[in-house]
Amino acid sequence: MNMVATLTRPGLATLVDGVRRITAAGRSKRETAFAVADFLRAHLPGLDILTEQERAGKAETYHSFPLHAETGFSIVAVVWRPGQGTVIHDHLSWCAFGVLSGNEHETLYRDMGDHLVEIGRADNRPGEVSGFAPPGDIHSVINTNDEVGVSIHIYGADVSRTGSSVRRVYDLPVL
Ligand SMILES: [Fe+2]
Repeated sequence: MNMVATLTRPGLATLVDGVRRITAAGRSKRETAFAVADFLRAHLPGLDILTEQERAGKAETYHSFPLHAETGFSIVAVVWRPGQGTVIHDHLSWCAFGVLSGNEHETLYRDMGDHLVEIGRADNRPGEVSGFAPPGDIHSVINTNDEVGVSIHIYGADVSRTGSSVRRVYDLPVL
């Protein structure tokens, strides 16, 4: 990855510095997720962190791409056209995410072994930031707004090495 080019994105260098400091402090995974969420809330970038072309999204599926990755954390932009969403999944690491546009409608599930049950729903709107850490992080996300959704996700893993933030995809029935 070309770090010189990526760090010129407006607001990205500030995020990288802040997250690097927080992750170096040796907190628990959950406390790290909450501290990174607090930092992201205070330093939420604008839509200009992406180019116009990047934030147009893709026709086939939502589009997720790293803005920065290093040992210990990654900063990823996700672009969702209206109605685009994820399969049900959980994560390799803690995560903090903030919404810049659209509405990330999230459904949370509990793993019952041979099936899932729905345990909650949340609407994450522009300006809203949350953090979580596994376990208990099984969810699916869909942009229910009629504008393109853009969000910034910060994961406690180097996704340029792991390939993705997903630990497991669940194709169990939801009962
Ligand atoms: Fe997720």
